[in-house]
Amino acid sequence: MCGIFGYIGDKKTAPSIVLKGLKTLEYRGYDSWGVAVVPEKKTTEKVIVVKKKAGKIGNADVVDMPEGSLAFGHTRWATHGGVTDKNAHPHLDCTKTIAVIHNGIVENYEKLKTKLEGLGHRFVSETDTEVIAHLVEEYLKKYSVLPRDAAPAFSKAVQATFQELEGLNAIIVINTAAEEMVAARNGSPLVAGFGHGENYLASDPAALLPHTKQVHFLEDDEMVIVSKGGIHIFNAHTGQRVRPRKQLLTWTAEETEKGKFPYFMLKEIHEQAGLLSEIASESPEQSILIARELKKAPRVYMVGAGTSAHAARAASYFFSLIAGKLVNYGVASEFDHRLSVIPKDGALMALSQSGETMDLLEVVKKAKEKNIKIFSLVNVVGSTLWRMSDEHLAIGAGPEKGVASTKSFITKIAHLLLIAYAMTDKVKEGQKNLIKAAKSTKIVTSKAHTHAIMALAKKLKDEQHLYIIGHGLSYCAALESALKIKEISYIHAEGIPAGELKHGTLALVTKGTVCVVFAPRDEHYQSTMANAMEMKARGGYIIGISDKNEEIFDEFLQVPDAGIATIIPNIIVAQMLAYYLTIERGFDPDMPRNLAKSVTVK
Ligand code: AGP
Ligand code: GLU
Repeated sequence: MCGIFGYIGDKKTAPSIVLKGLKTLEYRGYDSWGVAVVPEKKTTEKVIVVKKKAGKIGNADVVDMPEGSLAFGHTRWATHGGVTDKNAHPHLDCTKTIAVIHNGIVENYEKLKTKLEGLGHRFVSETDTEVIAHLVEEYLKKYSVLPRDAAPAFSKAVQATFQELEGLNAIIVINTAAEEMVAARNGSPLVAGFGHGENYLASDPAALLPHTKQVHFLEDDEMVIVSKGGIHIFNAHTGQRVRPRKQLLTWTAEETEKGKFPYFMLKEIHEQAGLLSEIASESPEQSILIARELKKAPRVYMVGAGTSAHAARAASYFFSLIAGKLVNYGVASEFDHRLSVIPKDGALMALSQSGETMDLLEVVKKAKEKNIKIFSLVNVVGSTLWRMSDEHLAIGAGPEKGVASTKSFITKIAHLLLIAYAMTDKVKEGQKNLIKAAKSTKIVTSKAHTHAIMALAKKLKDEQHLYIIGHGLSYCAALESALKIKEISYIHAEGIPAGELKHGTLALVTKGTVCVVFAPRDEHYQSTMANAMEMKARGGYIIGISDKNEEIFDEFLQVPDAGIATIIPNIIVAQMLAYYLTIERGFDPDMPRNLAKSVTVK
């Protein structure tokens, strides 16, 4: 999803500070970008200067922009209006003294645009966003009495505008008169950063790390006035002041850099063994607390989107196999029918890396309206889901910049495994399994194993289709592996329950069809090998992922057994295969086309 970054302070290099901020947000996925600055020099006709382009930032710079100490910028993920320079943000009003950047969708923009055009406003873009700039202009006429009232009039104009917007949005507005950024959110994330003599706004806390770790995550319907002297927060409807909820970010700026790795995804894959060991050795008290609550709930529902939905599915296996607890699960965008039957004493566990996935937040919001207790496993502490939850657990993966979720998935799985064991008072057994998984992960991410995976990627790079099968938790591994391969290498991959092959998909297997088989030495081993034989007999090219090689395998990737936690190294092998397939095919594993790191629109 798109990105927002704003700076106000003493430095006159605000445009380049903003451009650097946008670059830290590139991983979220975008299709165009732009920066606006209020020029320092007192020119006769002081207008806001904007530089914006369709496409990636690349090596672009803003040295051609005037100096200024108030600037903001935006990376766009188009919803209304094509990907063009004109439709990129920031957008200006008719006087070019007001600029706006916006995340989300103004659902009622057509009505507003018609009204504003009727008042003589001239629009230059096809976006929904541009109505915000002209609406502020209109309200400013109404609220501006004397120049000295510029600041209050401006924030009042933005407040009145925000109240007219329908839909889930985050906006920042600046103008040439008031030395401040005025922002508001309802749905899309926005975080204010406290500096010394300078202050910031961003859509993602990771962008603030190089400047400050003191932040305030805006709640829905909160507005903020950010000047170089301070940050004032108030309710966008009542105007009532809100005490800043200052929070210290625990991440470091270095964690948001690639370091010696060519891509964030490879760095994040290699962090997983260490993260597993950390989780296995840290205090499991939050897992025990959540386990106690889930045990009491007559019915537990797990929900997530994408990779987080796969974690929800895997959790349902853990809870039934380890804790004897039947758990319902589903993908967030298809959860409505369950919401209608969740009993009020049921429990909903929401899983999310970003804590901002709109599909998921909608489910949680509806569940809260039914007074259902919300538990969550989240990576971004302070995110919307984090703040909506009754009980939350920080999965502790650190900043995950690759669009393809890797370490955030594995750390979710690790915590869910501990919670399942904690439900039977055997958390130590869970920790032992995680230590086995960490050891197995170290082996599968070693140089020797990496070379084997690279060689396999070279062989498979021109394949059009990959079928991935597994039983039980290996079926969850198959689904997540298929998503990784699809979303970054653009090869069509499909995860299938091994037992389902004969019910249809086997019709697609002909000579040379590539079939990846997860075959850990668990209770499903024999049946999985029989299913693999069904594919082999029809010409399938079998890639075995197991602890020992077998005659039937045309290719073999070794994964040392880790008991019920073998799903973890299995998926890590698939993450690496997806990564090297992507490299072989010449694509960018960190920023796949059409996708965003955090999908904050429906
Ligand atoms: C997975 O690799 C994708 N990035 C995507 O499916 C992601 O898992 C999904 O959008 C949910 O994101 P969340 O975990 O931040 O809620
Ligand atoms: N709806 C706005 C547009 O299409 C904002 C999209 C975004 O969130 O980047 O420009």
